[in-house]
Amino acid sequence: MTVLPTRLDTGGPEHTANRAAMLTRLADLDTEHAKALAGGGPKYVDRHRGRGKLLPRERIELLIDPDSPFLELSPLAAWGSDYPVGAALVTGIGVIEGTECVITANDPTVRGGASNPWTLRKALRANEIALRNRLPLVNLVESGGADLPSQKEIFIPGGALFRDLTRLSAAGIPTVAVVFGNSTAGGAYVPGMSDHVVMVKERAKVFLGGPPLVKMATGEEADDESLGGAEMHARTSGLADHFAVDEQDACRLARRIVHRLHWRKQGPAPLHPVEPPRHDEEELLGIVPGDLKVPFDPREVIARVVDGSDFDEFKPLYGASLATGWATVHGYPVGILANAQGVLFSEESQKAAQFIQLANQRDIPLLFLHNTTGYMVGQAYEQGGIIKHGAMMINAVANSRVPHISVLMGASYGAGHYGMCGRAYDPRFLFAWPSAKSAVMGPQQLAGVLSIVARQSAAAKGQPYDEDADAAIRAMVEQQIEAESLPVFLSGRLYDDGVIDPRDTRTVLGICLSAIHSAPVEGARGYGVFRM
Ligand code: COA
Repeated sequence: MTVLPTRLDTGGPEHTANRAAMLTRLADLDTEHAKALAGGGPKYVDRHRGRGKLLPRERIELLIDPDSPFLELSPLAAWGSDYPVGAALVTGIGVIEGTECVITANDPTVRGGASNPWTLRKALRANEIALRNRLPLVNLVESGGADLPSQKEIFIPGGALFRDLTRLSAAGIPTVAVVFGNSTAGGAYVPGMSDHVVMVKERAKVFLGGPPLVKMATGEEADDESLGGAEMHARTSGLADHFAVDEQDACRLARRIVHRLHWRKQGPAPLHPVEPPRHDEEELLGIVPGDLKVPFDPREVIARVVDGSDFDEFKPLYGASLATGWATVHGYPVGILANAQGVLFSEESQKAAQFIQLANQRDIPLLFLHNTTGYMVGQAYEQGGIIKHGAMMINAVANSRVPHISVLMGASYGAGHYGMCGRAYDPRFLFAWPSAKSAVMGPQQLAGVLSIVARQSAAAKGQPYDEDADAAIRAMVEQQIEAESLPVFLSGRLYDDGVIDPRDTRTVLGICLSAIHSAPVEGARGYGVFRM
């Protein structure tokens, strides 16, 4: 074993200040998460309960194995938008009868559970996670369908929801729909396209057109139950495979369905026994400085996340501003790339490209720990080929076929975000710490660049430059970019799968790695042309 030492002075002023700053951010994050938990607010929650119905997270709790964890994904979806935080949908990974599944649940207390543009994005992300990791998908349905005022944003792209269900089925990945309430019009295709369907007695309403629409279209008089009730679908249309007497029974039936899948994971099993890290995970709170310009050693993070704090570093003396090396997390082998000094130079880029190729040759998943301000700029670096070398790293990341997980610990700026497997590079999962910031560049740099461009433009036109206006614009731009770089903002836009407490990193990674190993783990055997 190569146990990482620690140099953290956990009683010192720096650690204490970093920890205090992180705890403040976590408290702020809790406030935002509470908004998602509150759903549509007390009025709609009380009305829902008054109808004898369970809330989406209560349905999930009944569905998953007792006392097992549920990794909720993107709870802050729609943050900062015109729609309620959480986007009227709960998604995540949970274990049903010993099988990891992707679970989604509409929140009917939020505008009748109707899908707005953020609900759609969140649902499509859940489908993608199910498909790429070969995880059975269980949808707990109760939704008013399309959020009608925003139909222009969702009607056309929304077709992907039903397409995904049947593609999952075609790929041999089971899909289960449990209908607790309304699932009308387009929504009727959720049970329509699923492999297994459960409907709740006197609650499920599954029809292409409800009574008023039918009356308008054909003049026929019909009630909810005869058009789309659970009993009708179980006895007459055959759309329901299982008739549940109540919500509890529906969750029990869904558990039996998953039990009978006899789902086999196709990835390699984890190594045993698993040793916890030698250093305390609690100390993860005090590593990232409040000011991201101050560097920190990511090995202190690795030492508190990987099994036995055991990390074999690759090329430690070369390209030292990026740490690369091998470890296991909950018994799953991983290759880790972690920014050590913020900036990526040519050496770091080449080292990363080589390391990623090694992981692909060995079929080992990769973990990217971000704290980078991007690739180095300047005459010497341009002449030294920083573009070519950055391109090598980006080529390696883009064409790598082993699963990737990214965790934004601190900065994740510029093309560095791409090279470190940012969202556009399809990591299987991407999480941010509350201390993370991501943007095309830092707020001051961005405001400064805009100011230089404006100054040059004025000079070219022979116009005087208004310094007071410049200072005001700079301050405004800096503020805007700062706000847009924050994790809650980025999470609201579904640019990550959630903002997590640093202390939960090992657990979250363990759940994700286990889920990832439902699918085969195979590296790329071919790459694009590396520009040397
Ligand atoms: N789009 C936008 N808002 C919707 C909505 C939709 N599809 N469905 C419901 N809402 C809103 C309601 O206007 C209401 O808002 P308000 O409280 O501010 O007035 C809120 O959500 C709750 O709806 P309500 O009808 O009071 O709830 P309910 O639980 O009694 O009934 C439904 C829920 C979904 C059965 C019912 O609202 C409904 O039939 N909606 C339309 C369904 C439909 O035809 N959708 C088109 C599918 S493509």
